[in-house]
Amino acid sequence: MRAMTQIDTQRISRLEKLLYRMEAQVACLAWVFQELSGMPGPVFEMGLGHGRTFSHLRRYLPGRDIYVFDRAVNSYPDCTPQADHIILGELAATLPAAAARFAGQVVLAHSDVGSFSQEHNSAMAGLVSAHLAPALAEGALVLSDLPITVPGTTRLPLPPGAREDRYYIYRFSRR
Ligand SMILES: C[S@@+](CC[C@H](N)C(=O)[O-])C[C@H]1O[C@@H](n2cnc3c(N)ncnc32)[C@H](O)[C@@H]1O
Repeated sequence: MRAMTQIDTQRISRLEKLLYRMEAQVACLAWVFQELSGMPGPVFEMGLGHGRTFSHLRRYLPGRDIYVFDRAVNSYPDCTPQADHIILGELAATLPAAAARFAGQVVLAHSDVGSFSQEHNSAMAGLVSAHLAPALAEGALVLSDLPITVPGTTRLPLPPGAREDRYYIYRFSRR
C-alpha cells in the first residue's frame, strides 16, 4: 500500500481538511472491505452521527451485524439501524459493556467520534484506546478518525487515495 503524500495542515482550508478526511475515509473503508472477505464477525461503528458511514458499511458489508454507538440517534431515517443494533449512551459506559458482550468477536471497529474540539478528541482517543481491545477478534481491523493506541494493535500504512494523518488504520493481534 502507498498513501498519498503528507499535507501541511497549517496551509489548507477547513473545506480541504473535510475533503481530505472524507477521501481518506472512503479509501480506507474500501481497503478494509477487501481485507474482511473471509473474516466473518460483527462490526462496531462508533459515532453513528447522520449515518453516512453506517450506510456505507451496510452497503459494502451486506449481511454483517453492524452495531452502532452514539449518545442519541440523529441519523437520516434511511441510515438508521434496527433498534437492537443501536447502542445508545456515553461511550465511556457503552464501549466497556459492549466489549465484554462481544469479547473476541469484532472483526472491524470503525471509530468516528472526533469533533473540532482538541479536548474532546483527546478524551475520545483515550477512551477508545482504553476499552476497545477486549472486543477484537484476532486480525481485526480498527479504523479511526483520530490516532489511537489500542493495546495489541499495529498501525498500518494508508491505502492509495488517502493522505497521511487524515485517517488511521490498525491491525489487532493477541499474539
Ligand atoms: C463525526 S460524527 C459521526 C459521523 C458519522 N460516522 C457519519 O458518517 O454520519 C461523531 C458522532 O460521535 C458521537 N459522539 C461523540 N462523542 C461521543 C461520546 N462520548 N459518546 C457517544 N457518542 C459520542 C456524536 O454524538 C456524533 O454523532
